[in-house]
Amino acid sequence: MKTQIADLYFEPLIPLKDIDKRTIEIANQISADYKGRTPILVGVLNGSFLFTADLIKHIDIPVEVTFTKLASYYGGTSTTRKIRDDFDLSIDIKGRDIILVEDIVDTGNTLHYLIDKLKVREPASITACSLLLKPKALEGIIYELKYVGFEIENDFVVGYGLDYKELGRNLKGIYRKVK
Ligand code: IMP
Repeated sequence: MKTQIADLYFEPLIPLKDIDKRTIEIANQISADYKGRTPILVGVLNGSFLFTADLIKHIDIPVEVTFTKLASYYGGTSTTRKIRDDFDLSIDIKGRDIILVEDIVDTGNTLHYLIDKLKVREPASITACSLLLKPKALEGIIYELKYVGFEIENDFVVGYGLDYKELGRNLKGIYRKVK
């Protein structure tokens, strides 16, 4: 069923039940990979707030959660390549295991920027987890991107935290723009 958000139409792409299932698989993987350690999950706002919240519910090792805020789309449907640093991490990450949690990796620009910025602070390790990845848009491999929910085509998507003009974050599941 088509749904209108601002001036665009969107159609269902990934139902919530599939997201829930995949989220549990990723959480189990993280729990196994970080057994005996206490990683810090860093949710990248705004888009990852739902995914981060659902992910930690299923992680069964001790884990800390914090957020940072970056913006790179400015309300359009394609990247501007400009990254706006809205708020920084409020904690010291030196010697800690960091897992960045993203909603979507498109060109990879935002994730590269964030990884470079945090590496200077000498964490023990940095990996990244993204609900969605657009492999055909990715400009260069991101070695830290270890956990990916779903690979999708170069479509503009909304829902489950992702927005178009700040709307659509409350859609249950991922929707793609109708061509
Ligand atoms: P990148 O820097 O090109 O990888 O873009 C990453 C950021 O752009 C994400 O964190 C989102 O905020 C935004 N973005 C990329 N693709 C989409 C999309 O299809 N829908 C909504 N936001 C997107």
